[in-house]
Amino acid sequence: MAAINEIACLHGLAVIEDAAHAIEAWYGGRKAGRLGDAAVFSFYATKNLATGEGGMLVTDSDAIEEKVRVRSLHGLSRDAWKRYSAEGFKPYEVLYPGFKYNMMDLQASLGIHQLRRIESSLCVREAQWRTYASEFRGLDTLRIPPEDREVRHARHLFTIELNLAALRISRDRFVEALRAENVGAGVHFTPLHTHRFYRELFGDRRWHLPNAERIGERTVSLPLSPALTVDDVLSVATAVKRVCAYYRR
Ligand SMILES: Cc1ncc(COP(=O)(O)O)c(C=O)c1O
Repeated sequence: MAAINEIACLHGLAVIEDAAHAIEAWYGGRKAGRLGDAAVFSFYATKNLATGEGGMLVTDSDAIEEKVRVRSLHGLSRDAWKRYSAEGFKPYEVLYPGFKYNMMDLQASLGIHQLRRIESSLCVREAQWRTYASEFRGLDTLRIPPEDREVRHARHLFTIELNLAALRISRDRFVEALRAENVGAGVHFTPLHTHRFYRELFGDRRWHLPNAERIGERTVSLPLSPALTVDDVLSVATAVKRVCAYYRR
């Protein structure tokens, strides 16, 4: 983040952190969400705090806050949501062509009760993480995420990186093989510039972002959730090792 902030500073850019997965995360002694000019968190159904859809933007900048508040509610002037309050009718105006990106009170009421179990759920996922890390230690067919003393990881996704040189199958076939073992694995993520829309818009720029492409072809996300039992996690690990052994070159 220091390097990104430095580049942004040189070019007069604002840095918006994608903290969608990172509600529990810290980096270099600072909470995720405090590392740039603004940060966005996701409360989509699969996230560690879920309101179905929706999320949160945080910023220390009054200017960004004002802009986002107004644009997120039809571009109406500030406090327009109070227009029918007990204090009587308040005139309001459209200042920009805005969006309807407001979170409903109903959603917030789901989310607010999850706040108190954020840390205990993280503890469960940390234990699952340690299980995977110890089960996969020493395998040369995959790599597990490295640990970094500067980072307190949110443990939202446990992503392995396949060593395709040691396997006879592609990542997509590996995911299918796991599914056949009754393990729902995912891919986070396919690099943006390799999606059809961006290929058609900007031309085929594969090989321009070699790290994103290398990881995009090798990454697999394994189940990680407080809803899983210890046995569930062990059986996922067994299935991964079985698929690795079967398709080893
Ligand atoms: C890394 C990342 N950023 C952004 C988003 C978008 O979040 P939302 O679906 O709440 O718009 C997601 C959603 O899965 C995500 O995984």
